[in-house]
Amino acid sequence: MERMWAEIPQMTLDEARRFLKYITREPKFVLTHILPHATSHVRSSEPIVVATYGSREATTCLQVFVWPSGAATPIHDHTAWGAYQCVLGTLGEERYVRVDEDRAADVAHLRKEWQRQWYPEDGASTVGAYDAGIHRVTNRSGKLAISVHMYGPRSGALDGRDYDPRRNYVCDRIEGDEFNHGLPALYL
Ligand SMILES: [Fe+2]
Repeated sequence: MERMWAEIPQMTLDEARRFLKYITREPKFVLTHILPHATSHVRSSEPIVVATYGSREATTCLQVFVWPSGAATPIHDHTAWGAYQCVLGTLGEERYVRVDEDRAADVAHLRKEWQRQWYPEDGASTVGAYDAGIHRVTNRSGKLAISVHMYGPRSGALDGRDYDPRRNYVCDRIEGDEFNHGLPALYL
């Protein structure tokens, strides 16, 4: 267990997917990182990051997200790969692809590729960097949801991009803009 935690900063996407499968069933982790939030009555329109392990700037990192009922992300992507696993409740995910013929700054035309629900028994959803992982995650259920996320090292201060398909608009999302407007992150 301790050795695996120490290896998080160097983990690849395949290793992160395997680690998520392990850690989300590991009794000590569930007891210390999931159950304390399972009865939360926090209200937020966006997910709340309640734990962070690692540095997103330079290494692979792990984060725990709490999703009050109705919480949703914008349509967004990441500068690095990502993987997340729902561990309590249900999360919905919409995945998009870009259909631009000519790419101009701040303009992105999107087409929804698929959408589905993720349950704890489904394992991890994975995204590639930038266009390989444009998605929106929502908790449309009437109950709290919790998920565990891992992201690869990002390059520089940019965390990814946010999209607004109503205006065919895309913009960079800098560090600190991420979905963390509630409780402060608790460092392990
Ligand atoms: Fe994401």
